[in-house]
Amino acid sequence: MDEELRRAFGLYYPGIPAIVGVRRKGEANLMAAGWHMPVSFSPPMWAVAIGHARYTYTLLREAEAFTLNFVDLSHAMRYMETGRVSGRDVDKIRNFQIPVRDARSVDSVVMEEAYLILECRKVWQKKAGDHDVVVGEILDLHVDPVRMQKGNAPDDRWHPPVYMGGSRFAVWKDVEIRRFTLPED
Ligand SMILES: Cc1cc2nc3c(=O)[nH]c(=O)nc-3n(C[C@H](O)[C@H](O)[C@H](O)COP(=O)(O)O)c2cc1C
Repeated sequence: MDEELRRAFGLYYPGIPAIVGVRRKGEANLMAAGWHMPVSFSPPMWAVAIGHARYTYTLLREAEAFTLNFVDLSHAMRYMETGRVSGRDVDKIRNFQIPVRDARSVDSVVMEEAYLILECRKVWQKKAGDHDVVVGEILDLHVDPVRMQKGNAPDDRWHPPVYMGGSRFAVWKDVEIRRFTLPED
């Protein structure tokens, strides 16, 4: 069952991971999170599952906000640096020299390298097994102006971070995008 479950969860991928930024009493931390999703458009809300063993969980219990930062494939190491090391042991931002700045609208940090940033006010948090599902209302967002125009289609300079699980990322080469339209579309 365990092996089957591991494989079944592995089929969740590919996916686009985020990096959760949180700050408690001036102490900032970043953590990779693949288990996240939008949950409401109006008001805009996003959910993320945070394991109880994570330092981020400890910080988030006392924080009122968090950010979700998305970096492209050229910065994929950031997902490993923030997702394989705990802030309990290492100041990841300093150790890996990750450029951050203050969030604009909440008490948290955002990543300079991100092509998309969601600044969230924590509105709801509920235990789900060994994780908590944390829902934030998006109070502010930053979208790279080029991506705002082009969306998530890859080009020569930009690849979305297509995470395949473990430490693997897919490299989009010669990808064909197909449209599936109904007759009335
Ligand atoms: C790509 C990737 C995605 C991850 N997704 C999640 C996730 O959605 N939720 C979670 O609790 N941990 C996730 N992890 C594991 C945490 O990021 C990891 O345990 C991290 O070291 C915790 O950092 P912290 O102790 O500083 O909070 C992920 C790791 C990687 C590499």
